[in-house]
Amino acid sequence: MTPEATEAWKKLTRLASDNAQRRPPDTGLFEQLSFEAAGLLLDLSKQRLDTEVLQGLLELGNECHLQRRMVELVSGAHINLTEDRPALHTALRAPASDRPAIAGPVESTMHRVMVLADSIRRCAWRGYTGKSITDVVHIGIGGSHLGPQLVVEALVGKHYRGPNIHFVANIDAANITKSLTHLNPERTLFIVASKSFSTLETKLNAETARRWFLERVNRIDAISKHFVAISSNIEAASQFGIAAENVFEMWDWVGGRFSVWSPVGLPLALAIGTAGFQEFLDGARAMDEHFSNTPLNRNLPVLLALTGIWNYNFLGITNHAILPYAEKLRLLPDYLQQLTMESNGKSVHRDGSEVHIHTMPIVWGGRGSNGQHAFHQLLHQGTRSFAADFILIANTNDRSTHQRWLLANGLAQSQAMLIGQPDPDPHKRVAGNKATTTIVLEELSPAVLGALLALYEHMVFCQGVIWNINSFDQWGVELGKRLAIPIFEQLGGKPAIRQDPSTRGLIAHLINHGPSNRSMEDD
Ligand code: F6P
Repeated sequence: MTPEATEAWKKLTRLASDNAQRRPPDTGLFEQLSFEAAGLLLDLSKQRLDTEVLQGLLELGNECHLQRRMVELVSGAHINLTEDRPALHTALRAPASDRPAIAGPVESTMHRVMVLADSIRRCAWRGYTGKSITDVVHIGIGGSHLGPQLVVEALVGKHYRGPNIHFVANIDAANITKSLTHLNPERTLFIVASKSFSTLETKLNAETARRWFLERVNRIDAISKHFVAISSNIEAASQFGIAAENVFEMWDWVGGRFSVWSPVGLPLALAIGTAGFQEFLDGARAMDEHFSNTPLNRNLPVLLALTGIWNYNFLGITNHAILPYAEKLRLLPDYLQQLTMESNGKSVHRDGSEVHIHTMPIVWGGRGSNGQHAFHQLLHQGTRSFAADFILIANTNDRSTHQRWLLANGLAQSQAMLIGQPDPDPHKRVAGNKATTTIVLEELSPAVLGALLALYEHMVFCQGVIWNINSFDQWGVELGKRLAIPIFEQLGGKPAIRQDPSTRGLIAHLINHGPSNRSMEDD
């Protein structure tokens, strides 16, 4: 069933056209439209909705069988239809008794991950010359990179005592070159994280790392002390030369963008220790329990999802800004970009028929308060509509004026977007009436961060259910990967194959203006 065919959709369309500028009366609004769970406060009282709209959205959820689909998600039904598999990331943070079918492999792999992290942190893991590991280079991209990098950066504190962790994702050599500069191979461990073990960027960076290592060490057997892999393609990892005992399995039922809870989270266990990693899982678990056991009208992920549907499908909002007011969460927009846009950037229903409404809008963002001096001008006075999530942290144990000003600025920005500013001078007028959500984290602890990421994961799932699309595949990214192969060859001097005129012209221009026709490997 398509969402437009529901009665609720018709009702919501009517409500939106009755009054596109809907704003409910102020009294009791915050109390009615703010909700708490798992260390998070979700404040929807600056959204352009009222209780009648909310009721319509909940009816939409019911007509789209949201509750039934939520049960399917956590019970391991094959909801990823095009790949015929479940999306069981919630099982990674559930107690073993809740996931009997997969408990054994998950337990034993995660145990090995924890043992590895512990032994590196305790300096028990030694490199080939007997020295402890001081630096870890995590090589991965997309879901094998964004999550670990975000959570490590968010959660390492000022008294950090773990190894230095470097992240390499980009195929641009500048990324890995910068990370390897000043590293001592005797004290460096490489993690190659790739679910498929066939992603070009990760393979190339891993090969460069191995070459860098062997050039300095000149002992192939030393690899076993310095390279580990996380992958569902165990064979490819061992062909690369990584010892079987150093390969940690990633299961095909965990999507890359949902994988930070799996061995892919190893950098977090290295950074904050295994107890901290467990707290991170427990926080996500707390959100899972809230999601599974709370009625839809008080269910944070459901409400966040439905608010998005109202904005994107009924108020015509085409982009969504993620605005964390926390330096440590500066990577959250990047992470959520992949989570939301790769999951729900779809234009066919689950059965392959065409979608006739909008699905996920463009997600972007940047940290406050920097953004206020860059792109917020457009948000206040531009012509484009947008929605925004402000993310604040209540307790950072920072009593300095910096923290108070940070919070004051976050609140002032969402207030300005709400109330605007009438002014006789049109240049100074600010329209206001923008649709914003505020999420307040009790603190930036592993548990609350886990809950925040799980909140967004479930939001993505619920929106996918309403749009009746598959949130768990990503076929659209394959075309570019395929097209890059002949272009790479042509850039290296191979005879031209048929290209569109623009690409043909650009290839010729790049060859004419490039360093030489030699490949980089010849240097
Ligand atoms: O190309 C997109 C993608 O497949 C993402 O879905 C994934 O997170 C990323 O590439 C990395 O994939 P892998 O972990 O298999 O290297």
